[in-house]
Amino acid sequence: MEKFVIQGGRPLYGSVSVSGAKNAAVAIIPACILSDGVCRIENIPNILDVSSIVRILHQLGADIRMINKSTLEIDCSNIRDYVVPDDLVRKIRASAYFMGALLGKFSKARVSMPGGCDFGVRPIDQHIKGFEALGASVSLVRHGMIDIHAEKLTGSQIYLDVVSVGATVNIMLAAVKAEGLTVIENAAKEPHIVDLANFLNSMGADIMGAGTDVIKIRGVKTLKGTTYSIIPDQIEAGTYMVAAAATGGDVTVHNVIPKHLEAITAKLIELGVDVAEGDDSVRVRRTGQLQKCNIKTMPHPGFPTDLHPPVAVLLALANGTSIINESVWENRFRYVEELRRMGAQVQVDGKIAVFEGVKNLTGACVKCSDLRAGAALVIAGLAAVGTTEIEDIQHIERGYEDIEAKLESLGASIKRVRVKEPSMAKAL
Ligand code: UD1
Repeated sequence: MEKFVIQGGRPLYGSVSVSGAKNAAVAIIPACILSDGVCRIENIPNILDVSSIVRILHQLGADIRMINKSTLEIDCSNIRDYVVPDDLVRKIRASAYFMGALLGKFSKARVSMPGGCDFGVRPIDQHIKGFEALGASVSLVRHGMIDIHAEKLTGSQIYLDVVSVGATVNIMLAAVKAEGLTVIENAAKEPHIVDLANFLNSMGADIMGAGTDVIKIRGVKTLKGTTYSIIPDQIEAGTYMVAAAATGGDVTVHNVIPKHLEAITAKLIELGVDVAEGDDSVRVRRTGQLQKCNIKTMPHPGFPTDLHPPVAVLLALANGTSIINESVWENRFRYVEELRRMGAQVQVDGKIAVFEGVKNLTGACVKCSDLRAGAALVIAGLAAVGTTEIEDIQHIERGYEDIEAKLESLGASIKRVRVKEPSMAKAL
């Protein structure tokens, strides 16, 4: 068990480079199952969620070679098994993508109900609706395993009742080799959806419209190997942008696609922060007081729910009353209790949180409840007066590559410390 110890109150200065996108990587790596050749994937982030996905693929029988820190060569031509081992699946939400990928390849899949961050109920009814529309039967068998099989997958028209990233990915994976045309209406438009479509097309798929709310997939017989580089992580980029703003620093975030950052850029400007876009960088500077601002999370291109907890730290420090309306997840406010320990004044009622800005946060001992809540606590610790200790940092490692090294290079004081297990004698 480890924790972060942060000495706060130091503005961040300098440059930081963003890694490949977690949510693209965890879709693209299982998608390699669909290929008959070798896929060389570049710009893979070195994070726990990716390791979990790679381990599942390896256990299924894939040959995986690490070319360098961020490049893998994946050969899935030897995979014969369509049952995904249970232990890893429950740790990570994206393990659900093995359903679509295995179904697309073998017309059958058996996978446990996926895990991941706990934001309340996380249904998969829209994934199932998509598989069934393609001709598959879906049933819950023993121990929470979901069995999906089809005689043959046939293209279909699927209207998603809610805009779901996961369902859009899974239907694309299942439909890419189905016979005929599949149309997904009310599809998710996130950058990682476009990245997955580009990856599949580079293998010979015929997908049009990714990035709009209608995606058309004409099934192809085979998919070949490819070389593909994953897009930069918009949420990691947004996290460093918020950290620069929270500490009153001046940071240039490199290896970004500024278009993917429009929602966070607009809100930072509203909060009184300077943001200057370059071709593949953004410079974030704050000299004055943060100003109040209201935020509603929405599917892309709205404000991303995954940046809600980090940006909440800015609202906690802004002049006046600010509101966050969380419209995607039913329970994303578990970080609020921890921010209160640091002096934030926040009231939560259902999907709404109201922040009365305070001048300073103060260091405290806090715990991460999930990945982005953890990022928020790191930012709060960097901005706070005094020492902050953050426990349960394994959540942060799920999605941020080298976070301490990157922050230290910007002048932060952040140390990883082993937490001693309380001895039995002391506990008694
Ligand atoms: C993905 C992201 C996660 C992000 C979320 C929303 C990955 C690996 N994770 O999660 O970081 O917070 O998108 O941008 O990419 N829903 C249903 N039925 C379904 C599926 C979803 O009702 O079958 C609902 C969910 O409860 C939620 C909303 O739709 O309220 C969005 O969920 P979805 O986009 O599917 O999120 P994930 O793909 O799980």
